[in-house]
This record gives sequence, structure tokens and C-alpha cells, in this order.
Amino acid sequence: MYYPDELVEEVRMKNDIVDVISGYVRLQKKGANHFGLCPFHNEKSPSFSVSGGKQMYYCFGCGAGGNVFTFIMNYENYSFAEAVKMLADRAGVNLPEMEYSEEVQKKEGHRSRLLEVNKEAAKYYYYLLRSPQGEKGYRYLEGRALGKETMQKFGLGFAGMSGSSLVQYLRSKGYRDELVQEAGLAGFDEKYGMHDKFWNRVMFPIQDINHRVIGFGGRVMGDAKPKYLNSPETMVFDKSRNLYGLNFARTSRKNNVILCEGYMDVIAMHQAGFTQAVASLGTSFTSGQANLLKRYVKEVLLAYDSDGAGVKAALRAIGILKEAGLSGKVIRMEPYKDPDEFVKNLGAEAFQERMDRAENSFFFELRMLEREYDLTDPESKTGFHREIAKKLCGFSEDVERENYVQAVAERYHIGLENLRKLVVSYAAQTGFASPVVRPKSGIAAKKNTPEENRKKSQRLLITWLTEEPSLYPKIAKYITPEDFTEELYRKVADRLFEGLSKGEYQPASIISMFADEEEQREAAALFNTKLTELKTKQEREKALHDIIYTVKKNSYEYYSGRMGAEINAVNQVIAGKKALEELSKTHISLDE
Ligand code: GTP
Ligand code: MN
Repeated sequence: MYYPDELVEEVRMKNDIVDVISGYVRLQKKGANHFGLCPFHNEKSPSFSVSGGKQMYYCFGCGAGGNVFTFIMNYENYSFAEAVKMLADRAGVNLPEMEYSEEVQKKEGHRSRLLEVNKEAAKYYYYLLRSPQGEKGYRYLEGRALGKETMQKFGLGFAGMSGSSLVQYLRSKGYRDELVQEAGLAGFDEKYGMHDKFWNRVMFPIQDINHRVIGFGGRVMGDAKPKYLNSPETMVFDKSRNLYGLNFARTSRKNNVILCEGYMDVIAMHQAGFTQAVASLGTSFTSGQANLLKRYVKEVLLAYDSDGAGVKAALRAIGILKEAGLSGKVIRMEPYKDPDEFVKNLGAEAFQERMDRAENSFFFELRMLEREYDLTDPESKTGFHREIAKKLCGFSEDVERENYVQAVAERYHIGLENLRKLVVSYAAQTGFASPVVRPKSGIAAKKNTPEENRKKSQRLLITWLTEEPSLYPKIAKYITPEDFTEELYRKVADRLFEGLSKGEYQPASIISMFADEEEQREAAALFNTKLTELKTKQEREKALHDIIYTVKKNSYEYYSGRMGAEINAVNQVIAGKKALEELSKTHISLDE
């Protein structure tokens, strides 16, 4: 499924990373590297660095990093193969047709036909809305205060009165009935034969992040039921991994996302200038969607309906956001039902004020919880305080929990010491929550676990080696790729050591070994661990010695634990012991 390694490498070498990234980010040269504002998280001072020498980029703020392919994958949301293709075009490299297996070819061909038929249907609905037949739909949307540009931007359309006009149209374009049915655009029954699924509705095409139409929502123009009809899930329409409006929101460059419940809300928000608004697709918010949002922002503002169902959905969404490591806040919509009605009545400025005053999701949860208790009754009040204490155990980090304990004590007039005691007593039963792992965005609060320390020394060694490849012979005396006990690190070390032993040094090519963006990011981090600034030669020599010693010792312990299970463990242990003895008597000199 992939292009040959040599070709990938050729494409990479013909696309200088500083050139390519300069097309997206304003870079400034500082010393050996270029710096700019990171396009993958919101920041005010530049921590995004691009190295022409290493042909890699790395953000010291959010940990985004990789080679030129990683950048394009991340920025354009392309797959590895798509990124290779784009950069090959840019550099004028001819790529052979991808060597797909027959099965993959079939699947890809089918996917693109589904996308095509959706696009064709969207064009049809779009045209109809703007034709005399669509007048009713057009008036309805105007009545809902949508302007012409807004309708255009969202590609809104109309499904007409006739029962099978779309089917006829798609047939005339050469699409087979089975495909149209599979796309969810038509149904079949004995009595009526093939008939359109959407009928007499205004149509909302649903697009993926690359603006491809993957499904539809259709709304009745009055109070009939069901209010909305949505396309079923298909091979190209995964409702749990797409969000309405994200194709626009992702390039809005705002530092938050506004999560709404409905399509109309999203459209009204965008029209009012809040181009970071998105909504789930007629189903409740999922963790897949939270992870999608995490690529772009750290903060999600919930703009759910103010009614009971909306509150319930918001509480659910808060939990999902938290689990994904995103911070959630709740925008108060009262006295209006939803963001659409809010901006229509009070305007964008008032909404912006509500956003600025959005409520911390924890306090929102408490406020909702409070409604279930009668605080004039001591017993009920105690019950409420107990629930609060239980919830406070959900904060895994001591400082954060203590901050909340203090804030809650003050807000609800609970004695601070009493609340602390209550929290501790619940924690004794259930323990505090375990910390959320934040691999992708946000700087993970890395704990000093033995595991993390082990990995850290391995990372330091690889970074040091790439910064100073001339140290290779000195390091290779004691360290082999097998000493990198982390699988991904070992793969990287394998390639790096092999290259260095031949006098070649191409860390950026190593990144292309991994087709997965997450792995590329992790591999890139390996080359960009922050080395402590060491002034004197003695300090540097001692630090290098310590790192080599630690890596070797880890490896020795690792293989000692596997002597029964792995054939080469015994050899590793013997070699490890010898190297450690030697290292403890040897001074490593940085002189040539
Ligand atoms: P308007 O009434 O047009 O303003 O709709 P809205 O955008 O405010 O949506 P609402 O809050 O009523 O519903 C939120 C979302 O739930 C909609 O965008 C739909 O995706 C979905 N939804 C609403 N009603 C139905 C329905 O009857 N059937 C299905 N399948 N989904 C619905
Ligand atoms: Mn509404």
C-alpha cells in the first residue's frame, strides 16, 4: 500500500522543510533554527522550531513534531500516502500508481463512488433550492434569518415534492440504484419501487474535514415529525468521528471550539462570526469526536440547549471531554433555548459576553447537582456535601484538587477543614482518580515514574547523538540498539545506528518509517528532547557518561527480568554487566 522507501526519501529530500513550512507559518531564523507560532496550538510567543539541518520541526509547547510529511499530514489532515503525493507534486517527482492490493483497490474505489454520489446529490439539492421549485425552502431559511452567503457557505439545499426526482437524476448521471441506496439517499419497496429518502425538506449536507459531503440532514419546514431526518451511517459516514461544521471550524484559528447541539445552531453561530462552532450529527457527543477536537484546541465551550435534555446532554459531554483531557466550560443560554435563538435575539456581542463568562464545567455540574437537594433541610444538605466530596475525589492532581476544595468551600459555605476531611474519607474508600493521559495536545504532566525515567534517558541519548553525530563511535562502544527497551525507540535507534555506522546522518528519513501520525510525533520527540544547557566540558562529559550508564543499566535490568523468556536476553545481560563494570571505571572524553 505504500510507495517504495527510496521514492519516499527522494520526495522528502526535494522538499526542504523550511521552504514548505514557510508556506504555512511565518518563520524567523534564530541561530541554527527557524522559529514561529505553532499552528497546532494557540500561543503568543513562538515555541515552534524548524530545523533545516535536521529537516524536522518540533514544538516545545505542545510536542507536535516530525518531518515534512508529518507536518503536511497534521496541517492538511492527510494520510501519509496523501502527504507523499502532495509533496511529490510540489517537487515534480513522478509517483507510480499506488500498489494497492485488489481488496484495497475495491474498497477505495467504492468509497470514492459513495463520496461522488453524495456530492452529486448535494449539487442537485443545492440547485433545487435556488430554483422556482425550491422557493418554499428558500423562504423558510430566510425566515430563520439566514443570509444568502451563509446558505451558500453551508451548501444548503432542498429536496423537492416529487417522490423520486433525485433517483431519476442520479440514474441520468449513470449511478446504479444499489449505490444510491447504499448511500442512504433512496429506499426501495414493493409498492413504490425506488424512492427518494428525503422529500419536501431543507437539506443540510454534512461534510468531513476535507469538505467532502458524507451525508445529509433534512429538516421539515414546519412542525411535522420527525423534525430532522439524517442519512444512515455508511462506509463514508461515521457519525461518531465527524462533526458538523468542523471543516470550517478547524481553520478558524480561535483558541476554543463552541460545541452546539443542532445544525441550525452551528450555522447561526458561523453567521454571527463564531466560526469555531460545531455540532454532533444527530447523535450524542462521543469520545471519538472529543479526540478529533483535541487536534485543534484545548478548550471546548458547550452551547447546549437550556432545557432538561440539553443539561443532561451537557453533563454527559463534560465527562467525555474530561476523559479526553480537554477542558470544558458551559455557556449560559437563558432565557433562550439555544444559541440560534440567542444570537437572533441578543446578537453576537451579547453571546461573546456569555462566552467570556462561561462557567467552569465542575461548577456547572455542582449547580445542576444542587437542584436535586433541599438545602434548607440539614439531612439533604449533608447529602449534597457528601456528593461534592465524592466528586472532588475525581481530581487526581493534589494541587488541582486542593484548589477546587478551597473554591467549593467558599462558594457553598462549607468549613474548609470539614470538607477536606470528608474528601479524604471518601478517597480512603475509593482512591483518587488516576491521571488523564494527554498524548496528543497539551503538555502532559509527566510523572517521574520509573517507566518514564527509563524512557527519558533513552530519549536523551538519541537526541544527543543526533545533535552530535561525531559522538557515535564513543557511544556505540557501550550501547547497541537493543539497549533501547521501548519498541518504537529501538526501531529508531536501529536505523540511526545503522546510518551513523556508515557515516550517514538522516534523522528526518527515520520518521518516514512510521506511517502513523502519532508514531511520527513520538519519533520526532526522540530527536528533540530538551538537553540541559551544560557549560563546561567536564559537566558535559559527566552528563554523557551518566546517560550512557543509565541506559545500559536499564537495559541490563530489563533483560535480567526476561532471561527465561527471551533467547538473546542472556547475552544482553552478560554484555550489559561487562559494559557497566567498564563504564564505572571509565571516563568518557569528548575530545576527538
Ligand atoms: P431547529 O429546530 O431547526 O432550530 O433545530 P436545531 O438545530 O435547534 O436542533 P435541535 O436542538 O432541535 O436538535 C439537535 C439535533 O438533533 C439536530 O440538529 C438533529 O441532528 C437532531 N434531531 C433533532 N430532531 C431530530 C429528529 O426528529 N430525528 C433525528 N433523527 N434527529 C433529530
Ligand atoms: Mn433550534
